Amino acid sequence: MSDETYPPISAQLDDVAAAREEGRRKMDWALQHMPILSALREEFEAEKPFEGQRVGMAMHVEAKTANLVETLAVGGAEVAITGCNPLSTHDDVSAALDAHEDITSYAKRGVDDDEYYAAIEAVVDHEPTVTVDDGMDMVAAIHEDHPELIDSILGGCEETTTGVHRLRAMDADGALKYPVFAVNDTPMKRLFDNVHGTGESSLATIAMTTNLSWAGKNVVVGGYGYCGKGVAKKAAGQNANVIVTEVEPRRALEAHMEGYDVMPMAEAAEKADVVLTTTGNRDVVTAEHFERMKDGVLLANAGHFDVEVNLDELDDLAVDRYEARDGVEAYEMADGRRLNVVAEGRLVNLAAPIALGHPVEVMDQSFGVQAVAVRELVESAERSSADGGDPYDPGVHDLPDELDREVAEIKLEAEGVAHDELTADQEEYMGSWQHGT
Ligand code: NAI
Repeated sequence: MSDETYPPISAQLDDVAAAREEGRRKMDWALQHMPILSALREEFEAEKPFEGQRVGMAMHVEAKTANLVETLAVGGAEVAITGCNPLSTHDDVSAALDAHEDITSYAKRGVDDDEYYAAIEAVVDHEPTVTVDDGMDMVAAIHEDHPELIDSILGGCEETTTGVHRLRAMDADGALKYPVFAVNDTPMKRLFDNVHGTGESSLATIAMTTNLSWAGKNVVVGGYGYCGKGVAKKAAGQNANVIVTEVEPRRALEAHMEGYDVMPMAEAAEKADVVLTTTGNRDVVTAEHFERMKDGVLLANAGHFDVEVNLDELDDLAVDRYEARDGVEAYEMADGRRLNVVAEGRLVNLAAPIALGHPVEVMDQSFGVQAVAVRELVESAERSSADGGDPYDPGVHDLPDELDREVAEIKLEAEGVAHDELTADQEEYMGSWQHGT
């Protein structure tokens, strides 16, 4: 980038008006199916809890995220946002956001590395008082290049497993200088978004991108964590033969007891029709595996970074490489086998050309949790300046459970689902150690 300041999306598109209209249409559709964000938006609009706050965000900028961004803005915040992946932005949605007087969006699909980081810098230039990340890039940029901002930052929120892992590593090194909520780790996020969201949207995206069926395929799921469980279950539900690879013995056992085949990747690679990684780790699929794979295998990744399938090693083995379909790159081996990489090995449910990300209902939950987490950061700072109590210390924090429950209650009410509550006697019984046989 030669420009000193990176321009917002509106300055980068040819037909901004048309893009804004289409982006708004996508946002309106999503919002109709987001009862949690709708309820919180009404509350924030009335109470303006974020008045005077500047929120800096690096997220997948598409319709559901955009509704979170607007929810914070109607609550009084000034928001600046960019993408958290070079391929996951919907430019029309980004343009629709940028049209809002309290929102600046720098997110653009297909940016190179320099542009990606220049856009993060542009968000940091707004001097955020709260950060909202998906993968921790904003926290990293502030700590590495703008430590002078840290004192005025109330805290941050982190959306995904990989971001929380990075933050915990930073915290253990004593390097994390403001509090961050591990939004990923709440039940309302992880048990739905990672499991159902990743399962449904990764499989749907691969099927739509390739026009191929799951039935009868050998589908190798790398990693049997929250995301892997969702992928395995939904692939089995579509009549695939699921094979799981794991490094953690209890998770391997869980997959085995669930009825899946469990084996090392070196063995699974020979059988695979599809390999889908969900580990958050690097080099899960490498040269020794590529050498054993069948002609026509599909390789895809649903983990946060594009390091799970080692594409450098694949490229080294390939004698030819070409675009087989939109979103599918074929790597041809010397013996004629074609190994097909979907969405450049980036998280497939968001980065493939036709990707829409998780279903709307699932993201309503995740972003409902994000919204109450931001509210808690602001309110805790207000509480502490009023009564001198401590706000959250620098470091990674679990979100208070009652806030996660609040989000669940809003959703249940919207779904018309009633549930029982503990009686006073039951509560006393559950909290007592004296009751026995
Ligand atoms: P998790 O920690 O629950 O699961 C990861 C699993 O992978 C663990 O069981 C671990 O033992 C296993 N693993 C690690 N290295 C491995 C290796 N070399 N071979 C086989 N297994 C290995 O994490 P979770 O929540 O399932 O997230 C996984 C990744 O997906 C993260 O990068 C996360 O950020 C990302 N994610 C992606 C989403 C999407 O929309 N595509 C949504 C939510 C999370």
